[in-house]
Amino acid sequence: MNENQIPHIPVLFNEVIDTFKDLKEGYIIDCTLGYGGHSEGILESNSNIKLICNDQDDEALAFSKKRLEKYKDRVIFNKGNFKDVIDSFKDKNIVGILADIGVSSLQLDKNDRGFGFDGDTLDMRMDQNQHLSANEVVNNYSQNQLEDIFRNYGEVKEYKKVASLIVQNRPFTSSKELAQFLSKNMYKGKLHPATLPFQGIRIEVNNELGVLEELFDKIESANFRGTTVAIISFHSLEDRIVKNYFKKWTQKCICPPQVMRCTCGNNHQKGKVITKKPIIPTPQEIKQNPRSRSSKMRIFKFDS
Ligand SMILES: C[S@@+](CC[C@H](N)C(=O)[O-])C[C@H]1O[C@@H](n2cnc3c(N)ncnc32)[C@H](O)[C@@H]1O
Repeated sequence: MNENQIPHIPVLFNEVIDTFKDLKEGYIIDCTLGYGGHSEGILESNSNIKLICNDQDDEALAFSKKRLEKYKDRVIFNKGNFKDVIDSFKDKNIVGILADIGVSSLQLDKNDRGFGFDGDTLDMRMDQNQHLSANEVVNNYSQNQLEDIFRNYGEVKEYKKVASLIVQNRPFTSSKELAQFLSKNMYKGKLHPATLPFQGIRIEVNNELGVLEELFDKIESANFRGTTVAIISFHSLEDRIVKNYFKKWTQKCICPPQVMRCTCGNNHQKGKVITKKPIIPTPQEIKQNPRSRSSKMRIFKFDS
């Protein structure tokens, strides 16, 4: 790849642009800048908007700083985990929040990052400065810990077998070695036998579900008014978190379920869910970019 080639195709691009195109003056926080596709589209389509562009990946930030150079007066770049970005910028006029969670194509395709089946490291860290990596998880976690990860984060049916095979045959030195090992020893269905175990390891390494919940907690406590929140997720574990928070924010009554009469004032609804069903890619988008196939976008708007 040459340095100007864009390594990631943004998913649901037109749908994201439509979501934010009519917003009045203010800032949108792009929690997951990645390679800047969504950010560039938003800057191009809505001149009222300034962006706070956040990512925890140094390579992604360096690339997107160059890509968005011509908009530099309208962009603040921030390196960090998205669980912290709301607190850092909540005093600005935040009219929108976008999170396109998961890994970028560059992370998946670059062998030294160790996310893909051909990786020559066992890394999988989105933030290259963090301590925990896939090497620690695969080679040092106990069999019980591995079972939990494969069951809870990978939804692997044969989670016990995968954990036990890994423990008996480790150490592994690269994701390629681990993927080939799983391919040889596990049943081959529609998915590559390493797909779900890798998902589990990646979620553990980056605490992906924990930080998503923290992001929602931060958004909730910031008491935004009129802000549009759009979240793109890539698997059911993430989508469930998104759905549950949006549902919680529409509830008028927050009394515990066991009370006989409402005493909370019945006025706690924070806004409305804009997408009764999630927005998913068209067959044409999936054909052009197969990695978009599992994406789902849900949108919530806080009351003004
Ligand atoms: C799917 S890509 C985003 C692509 C981007 N929308 C584009 O148009 O190029 C996801 C990005 O989110 C980043 N990311 C994932 N989880 C994160 C987190 N908890 N905090 C900050 N960045 C995160 C990854 O490093 C990756 O660059």
